[in-house]
Amino acid sequence: MPQKDSITQVKGNFKGKSILSLDQFSTSDLDIVFKQADKMKQLVQTQGGSDLLKGKMVAGLFYEPSSRTFTSFMTAAQRLGAGIIPLLGMQASSVAKGETIEDTIRTFGCNVDAVVMRHPQVGSVGLAAKYSYVPVLNAGDGIGEHPTQAVLDMFTIREKFGSLDNITGVLTGDLLNGRTTHSLIRGLSLFKNVTIYALTPGKLKLSREDYENFTERGVKIVEISEVADIPKNANFWYWTRVQKERFEDLNEYEALKHKYIMTKQLVTDYAGSDTLLMHPLPRVGEIETDVDTDPRAVYIKTQMQNGVYTRMALLALVLGKA
Ligand code: NCD
Repeated sequence: MPQKDSITQVKGNFKGKSILSLDQFSTSDLDIVFKQADKMKQLVQTQGGSDLLKGKMVAGLFYEPSSRTFTSFMTAAQRLGAGIIPLLGMQASSVAKGETIEDTIRTFGCNVDAVVMRHPQVGSVGLAAKYSYVPVLNAGDGIGEHPTQAVLDMFTIREKFGSLDNITGVLTGDLLNGRTTHSLIRGLSLFKNVTIYALTPGKLKLSREDYENFTERGVKIVEISEVADIPKNANFWYWTRVQKERFEDLNEYEALKHKYIMTKQLVTDYAGSDTLLMHPLPRVGEIETDVDTDPRAVYIKTQMQNGVYTRMALLALVLGKA
């Protein structure tokens, strides 16, 4: 039974490694991914793709809903010539009969060369990786992490500003339960002189454990609860959805869900001329649609497209082809 340590530092070598957390990366590891993603972008834009991963198979095992992460991973695999087993929802698999994660992951590992997995429980994808015969890429484990989203988010910020050092960002919404923000702060904390303004209602602040863990890494986190405290000229705004599925009391969710809405007026009042307007999506009312035409609104296209390029890069790297 494979019991290899599931969280392994990348240290310049991605081949055969599961991608579970931003804690596995150094800045030079991220640089390798970003440079590969630059190449993948060029490749897609000029030729649509290649057969770099011909003969490889990638499974998507999604125990939770997904649009962007699922389709961009499956697109990424196919643009590089890999075959796919796309399971969006596991109810038609033996999971419905009560099969354990350990058995499911070993089953798929007999068929494919890499597994992309999303699951509602924190740590579940790490557990799968521990038992897996093939690399597992974490596509979101409950309120834990969403490392490939953070990679695409950082790629988007780096593409605009050339570097991730000396960056100031505003993260808004549900920082308690949002796995995208957990991974993004982890990732940005690797860089120099990063300041995060965390704009949340009191109840959706980062857990104190996360707050201490992140600040110990050197990232400066300024917790605010009023839009008037948004700094002028932040490099990016990262709005997020209040994570309804993590609430036991839906009245509480209703009371908090639209505390901060990105409107044209808010952008006019507080964003700088270069501020990237970002959101991992889906949005459920927290960005008004008339912001979509703002040239700074990368959430509606560029940020999502970057998801394909960065996932192509990560698949090629873990499969030892880049
Ligand atoms: C996010 C997720 O699933 O964590 N979506 C995504 O992958 N782009 C964000 C969310 O669901 O709020």
